Amino acid sequence: MNPIQVGLLGIGVVGSGTFNVLRRNQEEIKRRAGRGIEITMVADLDVARAQSLVGPDVKVVNDARAVIANPDIDIVIELIGGYGIAKTLVLEAIAAGKHVVTANKALLAVHGTEIFAAASKKGVMVAFEAAVAGGIPIIKALREGLTANRIEWIAGIINGTTNFILSEMRDKGINFDVALKQAQALGYAEADPTFDIEGVDAAHKVTIMSAIAFGIPVQFDKAYVEGITKLGAADIKYAEQLGYRIKLLGITKRRELDAAQHTSAGVELRVHPCLVPAKRLIANVEGAMNAVMVQADAVGTTLYYGKGAGSEPTASAVIADLVDITRLHTADAAQRVPHLAFQPNAMSDLPVLPMSEVVTSYYLRLRVADEAGVLAKVTGILASLSISIDAVLQREADEVGGQGGVVQIAQTDVIILTHDCVEAKMNAAIGLMQALPTVLEPITRIRKEELA
Ligand code: HSE
Repeated sequence: MNPIQVGLLGIGVVGSGTFNVLRRNQEEIKRRAGRGIEITMVADLDVARAQSLVGPDVKVVNDARAVIANPDIDIVIELIGGYGIAKTLVLEAIAAGKHVVTANKALLAVHGTEIFAAASKKGVMVAFEAAVAGGIPIIKALREGLTANRIEWIAGIINGTTNFILSEMRDKGINFDVALKQAQALGYAEADPTFDIEGVDAAHKVTIMSAIAFGIPVQFDKAYVEGITKLGAADIKYAEQLGYRIKLLGITKRRELDAAQHTSAGVELRVHPCLVPAKRLIANVEGAMNAVMVQADAVGTTLYYGKGAGSEPTASAVIADLVDITRLHTADAAQRVPHLAFQPNAMSDLPVLPMSEVVTSYYLRLRVADEAGVLAKVTGILASLSISIDAVLQREADEVGGQGGVVQIAQTDVIILTHDCVEAKMNAAIGLMQALPTVLEPITRIRKEELA
């Protein structure tokens, strides 16, 4: 049988990795797919550079629509990124009857519903293993490997840039800006690093995993997103002293109606810095590595670890999708794995819960005047709202460097770990504590997950 022909839109870091791995491992890939897979056409704005990467046998054009219009091409790989022209081209490729492989998490997290509907209507597949956690086959695991299970929660380190920054800050004591520059130089960061450091990239990825895990539509607009830019060295150090590490986690959880906490049934969908017990495997995922923990009823806890970005790791996921499509494209569309794991007519309308209804535990740091009765007032506020304290630590501010400048009055840091409570209650408690005249700076609140 002739090789299946693939058109590539955008040959940057991932595109060139895909081209090279496909060439290098072509014999093994063909034995697995049952048919050769060849990139025969590439569209890129820099034609000369693209041609030098792929050699003279591959047709290179500067117009993506020429690839989509080519009747010999069965699969289009979209590696342009973003929601703009990439969305138009993906929809045009679908309309032209092409299967699509994409690494574009932003596009799917925001416009996935429209794109998957268009693909189902046209009878083509949109595959996106590379969109979440790069080379880790987490989409395959969630959609197929765990298909027997009722998934309870997912918690992942799904942004390599921020994990690298947090690891460097903790290990080497360097500041945020220096670590970010290093991450950019190593090629981990998005073109616009605010997507990494503000948690947006992780939120795109957890939105996609949430939809697959719980059979709900992708709803990026409902995700709570908080990045790492406000984290200070002091909190990283205090967390360590309490037996925790701080990680930026993408979390999604199925929640039942809870009359005691006054919360409804729904799905939590959130990205924020999080204290994780240092003894958990996921707390020891360092540098730019990614890891995803999945808790499911039959299998229990599983953990998936690997490179979440980079040329060939991401190419590994892109090519896995090419092989899947090659095996399945002649099959009856009804026999294919649904895009979001659940049949399109069996999706759930379970709502994404507002952050005020999320239930979690907390790390609080209060810079207070070091005088009698301060701690009693703070703990009294927590008790009045039935928020149970797990641990308290008091440290002289200067022990961790303080905020610099001349200290006019004796100050101390009070660090409190709480047990689980609903976020609305914690908001109220923080409001009351902040109003105390002895609380001298804005209170730091970092959520905590035991991941037990
Ligand atoms: N900027 C992303 C990261 C790349 O740092 O993980 C892969 O999506």
